[in-house]
Amino acid sequence: MLVTTKQLLTKARKHGYAVGAFNVNNLEVLQSIMAAARALSAPVIIQTSEGALEYAGLEYLKAITLVASKERIPIALHLDHGKNLDVVKECIAKGYTSVMYDGSSLPFAENLRNTKKVVGWASKKGVSVEAELGAIKGKEDLVSVSEREAFFTDPNQAVEFVAKTGIDALAIAIGTAHGPFKFEEESVLDFKRLAAIRKLVSLPLVLHGASGISHDMVTFLHKQCSVLHDCVRVAGGRGVSDANIKKAVKLGICKVNIDSDLRIAFTAGVRNALLEHTEAYDPRVILGESKKLMEQVVRQKIMLFGSKNRA
Ligand code: G3H
Ligand code: 13P
Ligand code: ZN
Repeated sequence: MLVTTKQLLTKARKHGYAVGAFNVNNLEVLQSIMAAARALSAPVIIQTSEGALEYAGLEYLKAITLVASKERIPIALHLDHGKNLDVVKECIAKGYTSVMYDGSSLPFAENLRNTKKVVGWASKKGVSVEAELGAIKGKEDLVSVSEREAFFTDPNQAVEFVAKTGIDALAIAIGTAHGPFKFEEESVLDFKRLAAIRKLVSLPLVLHGASGISHDMVTFLHKQCSVLHDCVRVAGGRGVSDANIKKAVKLGICKVNIDSDLRIAFTAGVRNALLEHTEAYDPRVILGESKKLMEQVVRQKIMLFGSKNRA
């Protein structure tokens, strides 16, 4: 069943759990997410970035998601980090049930103005809108953990932003980062800030950059690197701890974005399949193990977010 993120997140907010939002770039990733969602009867958000649209094409990604939506599980089709207003407009026009407009790198007034514009387009089609205030950085932004703090969401600004834009969900910056390199040491989030925002803003809040960068999965990946003597991908990566995710959900996070954990599982599966089946040249053999590993990742997230049996 295809629904809006507003529908999914309103229920999550009411009952105190979060819905997983997983990045999809191809059929295998989508099928793995759906297998986990089906098995645990959990709602999920299928999100595609601008990069995913460029890689696979909007129509292909939409078509496979529409097939998935024939299942009983409620799912939303969401644009992740839409920075280009033309792309946001296109997704709204072509049947996405939810879009994120990401104006977080713009001055406040411009972010507000553009977000308001997007809400105007989206409301005519019953499409939900997520926007970002503060900025969730990534390794590519070359800012240290302490420098990142300068970009954390200001609670009072959040009140003004929500009231003036009319968005349905707000992505906040409280210490997470995109990609595998989130923390130099332990995972630390600014829960005081989250609680302050929650007190002032009643909308569903969104946590980006929330991958856990599982030690077991990275160790498994590095076992393959040591056989191949070729690399140590994501070495030293540190994600958000499960305990921090649980606490964030308890304090009002209703949507949790996961991409890096799926990427690592995908890569580990492909490399292992190629190492174990040296004769293989069948994509089904090469990608089959990845699908199982990605399904495991999504199952673990559903349990962690408390969204099991919420379909
Ligand atoms: O937050 C970004 C997501 O991980 C998507 O990444 O833009 O490389 O597809 P991407
Ligand atoms: P991760 O890199 O932590 O998986 O974050 C993904 C994300 O926020 C997508 O919008
Ligand atoms: Zn993100």
